[in-house]
Amino acid sequence: MADNVDIDLSIDFCGVKFKNPFILASAPPTTTGSMIGRAFKAGWAGAVTKTLVEDASTIINVTPRLASLGFKDPEKRKKKNYALENIELVTDRELSVWLKEIEELRTKYPDHVVIASIMDDASEPEGWQRMAKKCEDAGANIIELNLSCPHGMPERGMGSAIGQNAELSKRVTGWVAEAVNIPVIAKMTPNVTEVALVAEVCMEAGAKGISAINTVAAIIGVDLDTLVPLPNVSGFSAHGGLSGPAVKPIALKAIASIAKETGAPVSGIGGITTWEDAAEFILLGASTLQVCTAVMFYGYSIIDDLNSGLAQYMKKKGFGSITDMVGASLDKLVSFGDLDNKTRRKAYIDNSLCIQCDACFISCRDAGYQAITRGSDKVYKVTEKLCTGCSLCYQVCPVDGCISLKP
Ligand SMILES: Cc1cc2nc3c(=O)[nH]c(=O)nc-3n(C[C@H](O)[C@H](O)[C@H](O)COP(=O)(O)O)c2cc1C
Repeated sequence: MADNVDIDLSIDFCGVKFKNPFILASAPPTTTGSMIGRAFKAGWAGAVTKTLVEDASTIINVTPRLASLGFKDPEKRKKKNYALENIELVTDRELSVWLKEIEELRTKYPDHVVIASIMDDASEPEGWQRMAKKCEDAGANIIELNLSCPHGMPERGMGSAIGQNAELSKRVTGWVAEAVNIPVIAKMTPNVTEVALVAEVCMEAGAKGISAINTVAAIIGVDLDTLVPLPNVSGFSAHGGLSGPAVKPIALKAIASIAKETGAPVSGIGGITTWEDAAEFILLGASTLQVCTAVMFYGYSIIDDLNSGLAQYMKKKGFGSITDMVGASLDKLVSFGDLDNKTRRKAYIDNSLCIQCDACFISCRDAGYQAITRGSDKVYKVTEKLCTGCSLCYQVCPVDGCISLKP
């Protein structure tokens, strides 16, 4: 992507100014203050600390704690991962150490935003309030409530054990919102039936914004030799949280529902890897964007492409600011019943581009309407009368422009 164009990428989120919408999510890329400092220097506008707890001595991680899915190309010495599962816990670093680092970050990088992520159980307000106040005193700009970690912590009544219960989410958000003067945002779990309902009660309780989503509860696979689910921790495994490109559609649905149904400012998270992903999140209602897995795979320097790609797209589409762009696609998202069911489209195959792979023919024959015929010369034809315009042939065709749908 070429150099930055002349577009202001700054955005106000919950009354806090970000120089661009990109924030490191609470995760391994924010394990320490010095890592966050390096990310700020690289161009990230803000960072959410790895989730803090009052007593870090209770946090003991297992190894390994990651497993991935991807396409391998050994010849090119490349693996392109599209999903990551983790069973990592919150930070195992002392709160006092973190508070010092937050203070240092705020002094050294006053134009950058430090968001303190905190977690406790829902039994009493004191732990939440003590931690939130200490982070505020250390200079944190925003508090993020981790109501959403789906593994390890729920067994202790924390994380998604709270976020899956609207009443507890509301209670905890209220406790923290009344204890501090800085904005509080609540981080949602996608592992609920209606994420917008949980977001709404958190906003009612005093949250200034919502971050969504945390990881999707998952088991990424089973080792067929050992029969042990992954990741294999000394012969056993536990379910974990899925992240990366595979969860992007789940995240987009969640943030669109929250933005549309509650009007809350949303920090979008889940699978953001490229500037195109970022643009999609903004169009569906996110005003800041948090990134974890893409940084774990490719490093902090992806911020250059994210910023310059987004700026060029905005210029091309005539968006003068991020604010202009936030939610610009939301009014194009309607109930299914409001969709046009009159216009009929049919598949059209351009045989001059076709590589005769048979993919469209097989899919239409065995999972469609038997509308595609294959001549002895391997010329494919669509019988218009049989084609229902489902688009399966288009979805499986590997050649751009070879199959199109025409009214
Ligand atoms: C290894 C790992 C550790 C994580 N730890 C935390 C955490 O401590 N607190 C938290 O709120 N989210 C945590 N997350 C979730 C991320 O912040 C983020 O919500 C999720 O990974 C989806 O974004 P992504 O697809 O960009 O990774 C973690 C994710 C990963 C992969």
